[in-house]
Amino acid sequence: MPGIIVVGSQWGDEGKGKVVDVFSSQADFVVRYQGGANAGHTLVVDGKKTILHLIPSGILHSHTSCIIAAGVVLDVERVCEEIRALRASGLIKDQTQLLISDSATLILPYHRLLDQARERSAGLEKIGTTGRGIGPAYEERASRKALLFGDLFQKETLRGKLEVALKEKNFLLEKFYGEKPVQVDDLLKIIESVTQELAPYRCKDTSLVIYKALRCGKKVLFEGAQGSLLDLLHGTYPFVTSSSTLSGSAMIGAGIGPSTITNVLGITKAYTTRVGAGPFPTECDNATGERIRQVGAEFGSTTGRSRRCGWLDLVALKYAIRLSGITSLALMKLDVLSGFEKIEICNSYELDGQKITEYPVSPGDLARCKPIYEALNGWSEDLTGARSLKDLPRQAQDYIQYIGASVATPIDVVSVGPGRDQTLWIKPLFS
Ligand code: IMP
Repeated sequence: MPGIIVVGSQWGDEGKGKVVDVFSSQADFVVRYQGGANAGHTLVVDGKKTILHLIPSGILHSHTSCIIAAGVVLDVERVCEEIRALRASGLIKDQTQLLISDSATLILPYHRLLDQARERSAGLEKIGTTGRGIGPAYEERASRKALLFGDLFQKETLRGKLEVALKEKNFLLEKFYGEKPVQVDDLLKIIESVTQELAPYRCKDTSLVIYKALRCGKKVLFEGAQGSLLDLLHGTYPFVTSSSTLSGSAMIGAGIGPSTITNVLGITKAYTTRVGAGPFPTECDNATGERIRQVGAEFGSTTGRSRRCGWLDLVALKYAIRLSGITSLALMKLDVLSGFEKIEICNSYELDGQKITEYPVSPGDLARCKPIYEALNGWSEDLTGARSLKDLPRQAQDYIQYIGASVATPIDVVSVGPGRDQTLWIKPLFS
């Protein structure tokens, strides 16, 4: 039963979309199982850029069925916009290419308004959310009041459910945050404008579809969103997202058992980035960080915000490998490091005068950690034309080797640019 999970092993934006796109050529199904339109997966094929927020990154391969599973928080307007754009460019040709679970949690305008109002009123405690309504939607699901995708098609009960939801949300919006309330008729208008378009993609039970696919030997890729260090329970709380971003979340979000999984591929950049607030020990708030940001085009594909940049943190990477049971790694954006005479790499921290090699789970401790670096020789060559490992300069090969050995995990994929052909395959994923 060849199920493979692709997870981010940093603070998101590692390049999961590109890896999923490349491996989707061999996959029968690609499943998004958590998060929502806070994600931004950028794919570049033949120089053409496609940015996806909700639709799985397998959608560029017409033979692959993409599934939005129950664990996703689904912004119906955004998913509709994505579908329209993909249809207009001929990438969605028929409805079997996309299935949306009836059990996915809806994100409606009031979730976004609440998310943004809450962030505005947070003062110095801002998390830096994307403002896409993720937190309020997951809260509503946990409080058992959420509307689900399937509810859109129950016309007789929809208005009543919206009225119940709005009673509480409007109280918060108006009385607590001083914002304008949302009118049920406006909501119904928005919903009406998208429901018909989304109906062909409706699937009552995507968990059953995935189960049957795995049982008959189909290849299924589970596409994570965000990164391990943004995990609600194990990330840098409270500077995290509101879902679990670890591999275990694929089981829950898609509704399948762990015995179906053969590999967990962790995605990491050759350096580190973070968007939003929260501790980041290897951040380089200097010319080095700026150079990585410019060369790596480290600006958010969802919000356009500039990402904080720094050297690779092996302490954090080892933590992510442990949390998700990562069996191999994809090392992304190695080309961005060309031209540094020395490349620093963090393999331990100093915390209150002590050297530590394990990631501290308390964000307070993490914020006091100072990185201890080893400096490796850099390289001056442009890597973007490399097509196999042996095309890389010795120092770049040494860097890869150093990382794999330090975290005791094989590096199966190296990426040297956004294009599909700029992917150096060390080992095939579906063997
Ligand atoms: P939220 O998920 O929009 O509530 O944002 C919570 C935190 O997670 C913020 O720091 C965001 O910048 C960060 N975040 C959410 N989604 C992503 C992502 O896809 N990539 C990187 N950071 C993200």
